Amino acid sequence: MTDTRVLATTRLSGRPITDTDFGRIRSIHSDTRVAATLSADGRPFAKSHTRQALRSWKKHWDDHGFGVWLFHKTDGEFVGYAGAMHASIDGKPEVEVLYALRPDFWGDHFATEMATAVVQFAFDRLRVTELVAYTLPTNIASRRVMEKCGFAYEKETEHAGLRHVLYRLDEQGFRKTR
Ligand SMILES: CC(C)(COP(=O)(O)OP(=O)(O)OC[C@H]1O[C@@H](n2cnc3c(N)ncnc32)[C@H](O)[C@@H]1OP(=O)(O)O)[C@@H](O)C(=O)NCCC(=O)NCCS
Repeated sequence: MTDTRVLATTRLSGRPITDTDFGRIRSIHSDTRVAATLSADGRPFAKSHTRQALRSWKKHWDDHGFGVWLFHKTDGEFVGYAGAMHASIDGKPEVEVLYALRPDFWGDHFATEMATAVVQFAFDRLRVTELVAYTLPTNIASRRVMEKCGFAYEKETEHAGLRHVLYRLDEQGFRKTR
């Protein structure tokens, strides 16, 4: 039987994250190049942060039936993760899209491929009406991934004590880009 929670793209396959994925997520969170764009102090995330993230992502799948997917190339190599999760932003309930890629694969449009699959799943299968994504203002690659998925800049917001830029995509905008 086909697993309806699997996301297939041209070059990648995504499956729900599991408890056994700590090492894979860690390979991204412990990388200094990732930390420079993602963590609040520019230093690699602590193991406890990765453990906590994995726990909350797993719980999100259990509670809501969607969350973060692990993506592999067709040859089986792990490239990164992307997902959609409930979040509260500026006191408002939102569904947030997130993604991160192993630096070995940066620059080959894999991030856009993962994020597009998640966005499509969210509008077509979850029937959400809007999605948001946010990043540090200096994270140009991430902002570009959002734009390529159809998101538009909305405003600045604060996350983890830092200024971030918030982007939004509604269903109408999504349908227009297809
Ligand atoms: C953000 C991230 C996922 C992007 O990965 P990637 O492989 O570069 O993504 P893609 O190749 O799909 O797209 C990147 C786009 O940004 C552009 N870009 C990258 N760096 C750039 C820069 N410094 N200036 C201008 N454009 C830039 C690329 O040219 C590409 O756009 P294009 O297709 O129009 O040419 C990756 O850098 C990452 O995992 N970073 C750490 C985690 C993170 O920051 N996640 C997002 C936070 S929400």
